[in-house]
Amino acid sequence: MSEGNHATVAVTGVTGALGSRIASRLADHGVPQLLVGRSPDRMPELPGAQRRGPAAYADADASDMRKALKGASTLILVSGHRTGRRLEEHATAVEAAIAVGVDRVLYVSLVSASPTATYLNARDQWLTEQFLAGAGIRHTVLRSGFYTSTPAALANEEFVVNGPGSTGRAAFVTHEDIADVITAVALDEGPRSEHDGATLEITGP
Ligand SMILES: NC(=O)c1ccc[n+]([C@@H]2O[C@H](COP(=O)([O-])OP(=O)(O)OC[C@H]3O[C@@H](n4cnc5c(N)ncnc54)[C@H](OP(=O)(O)O)[C@@H]3O)[C@@H](O)[C@H]2O)c1
Repeated sequence: MSEGNHATVAVTGVTGALGSRIASRLADHGVPQLLVGRSPDRMPELPGAQRRGPAAYADADASDMRKALKGASTLILVSGHRTGRRLEEHATAVEAAIAVGVDRVLYVSLVSASPTATYLNARDQWLTEQFLAGAGIRHTVLRSGFYTSTPAALANEEFVVNGPGSTGRAAFVTHEDIADVITAVALDEGPRSEHDGATLEITGP
């Protein structure tokens, strides 16, 4: 524990919609943080938070990522944008975390991640989950549902969303709700957590 009663948490994706909300909630709880990403100048200013980087998941030898993660106990790894190399990119971040003594990883995945999913992103996310399961570090997989903000962004002028799926139902969920859940899991500190090894699905109603 490095400050108050909380261990230091490193959060990625903090220039984005989800990571910034997680970081803001952790700051409200007085958790010391390392904000990690490609553009420290675009990161939020939060009490108890240090901006670290530039550090990208794509960092081939991971030295920037190792430097950025130094001192963290927990890493909240928000998945990156689709590049076709997501597994490799996420894997370098996890390996960098292990190399500098990070104790656990909370990985933000996607609901229904599976090797046989129709949706490419769900197959991609499953690959990182598998990597994490074999990496030998405490971890929790947080599979978030589809964001409520996504359909509006994808709809055409007739309000139709065309995608690689059939008819069906989805439990869309807000970034706020996802950030609340991930913050709660992160705050469940200590040498053991009931969430170690768990895969939690975060969906809306
Ligand atoms: N559940 C869903 O419906 C859904 C929908 C869309 C995406 N997603 C996934 O959920 C993630 C978080 O969602 P969001 O809404 O917060 O997305 P967002 O607003 O686009 O934020 C993504 C964050 O990830 C960072 N990032 C992306 N690629 C990176 C890389 N290679 N190395 C380091 N940082 C990288 C971005 O940094 P920069 O500012 O430097 O780009 C940004 O901070 C997305 O990245 C995507 O994997 C889920």
